[in-house]
Amino acid sequence: MKQEIKPATGRLGIMVVGLGGAVSTTMIAGVLSARKGLAKPIGSITQMATMRLENNEEKLIKDIVPLTNLDDIVFGGWDIFEDNAYDAAMYAEVLKEKDLLPVKEEMQAIKPMAAAFDHNWAKRLNGVYVKQPATRWELMEQLRQDIRDFKATNNCERISMIWAASTEIYIPMSEAHMTLEAFEAAMRADNTEVISPSMCYAYAAIMEGAPFIMGAPNLCVDIPAMWELSKKMHVPISGKDFKSGQTMMKTVLAPMFKTRMLGVNGWFSTNILGNRDGEVLDDPDNFKTKEVSKLSVIENIFEPEKYPDLYGDVYHKVRINYYPPRKDNKEAWDNIDIFGWMGYPMEIKVNFLCRDSILAAPIALDLVLFSDLALRAGMDGIQTWLSFFCKSPMHDLEHEPTHDLFQQWRMVKETLRTMIGEKAPSYLD
Ligand SMILES: NC(=O)c1ccc[n+]([C@@H]2O[C@H](COP(=O)([O-])OP(=O)(O)OC[C@H]3O[C@@H](n4cnc5c(N)ncnc54)[C@H](O)[C@@H]3O)[C@@H](O)[C@H]2O)c1
Repeated sequence: MKQEIKPATGRLGIMVVGLGGAVSTTMIAGVLSARKGLAKPIGSITQMATMRLENNEEKLIKDIVPLTNLDDIVFGGWDIFEDNAYDAAMYAEVLKEKDLLPVKEEMQAIKPMAAAFDHNWAKRLNGVYVKQPATRWELMEQLRQDIRDFKATNNCERISMIWAASTEIYIPMSEAHMTLEAFEAAMRADNTEVISPSMCYAYAAIMEGAPFIMGAPNLCVDIPAMWELSKKMHVPISGKDFKSGQTMMKTVLAPMFKTRMLGVNGWFSTNILGNRDGEVLDDPDNFKTKEVSKLSVIENIFEPEKYPDLYGDVYHKVRINYYPPRKDNKEAWDNIDIFGWMGYPMEIKVNFLCRDSILAAPIALDLVLFSDLALRAGMDGIQTWLSFFCKSPMHDLEHEPTHDLFQQWRMVKETLRTMIGEKAPSYLD
């Protein structure tokens, strides 16, 4: 049945947590350049991908569902450093100065608001432009005020918020995360051990009716209390952790081995990375959050309990090494030990010289635009169809996540088709 989708009228405010980061400034520069016709939005599903309809007609996704036009976007957000988006992009050194100059003035006008930050949650960072609230509750109230002010000042009809800030330290789910009541009590009691700054941003966004996307592997919205809040407020939430490079590759290769019934007994992934993200992840507590996110992928795809002869004993190791000379140009190596007919071993080596933020920027844009669409289509709670973009897809306690990139892509198309009351074509999808 066709869903009622409100049109994408007016302006959409994209509020980015970590406004001065590499992913964030690369996304902003790309959108502003695309608007001027200076660059193509390469890697963006919302801008470039097509989809087949029931009658086999193939159309651009943005011509099938009503997405916000890039011309109607306004950027804002928060950072722990006061630099404007242009200076921050120059610092990040992802894009060349020649590519930033045509959008310099617009980027200079994008200035962060003071951040909700706690050094204990990101020990390698020293925030200088941060709020000084008495409690986590007050911090969240200040963020809500920021959202309202930004919306009014920029004449936005809707807001979508995305976390593209540093990864917080790993914490397990605890009592305070299980119900909204317990969560709110912990915020009021200023329990800084269980309420992270990212949770304050998310709570504030949801309360203001803005979808929230978690681009890092932080626990944040991945807790029953937030699922409850997002349902109560009728707001979509999604995450976690942009699926950009090495993990994207894994979620394509692993389904191939499984489809051909080839065995795997070892998968070693390592990479070197020299940007600020790499520096933060150099702290063991912050790396742990990322490691958990990266490790879950293979087991989910291989289903060792179903195929013990093929995947019953896979040794999986993930390493991230902070190596400053490389900056944002990550280099990743994978060694995969596989086996075939009669158990004969084979090896595959993948060496991906990628650009982290070049891969992540279109993912961030797509997540924001699809979340805004979901809001207008009346969808709320966890958006499992957006797993396609995430390393560690969110799911409730009754469901399993899906990591296989092709299954995830099918979920995206199915959801979009359902929105407009269409069915899949019968032959080629
Ligand atoms: N680049 C990728 O391919 C990729 C892939 C998956 C996930 N991620 C995640 O996305 C996030 C951003 O990555 P990046 O490369 O842009 O990192 P980055 O270090 O360049 O940017 C992070 C920004 O967040 C700011 N920040 C930190 N804590 C903050 C807070 N509490 N409030 C507001 N601002 C805060 C920092 O000052 C910095 O400007 C990281 O968590 C990273 O793990 C990135």
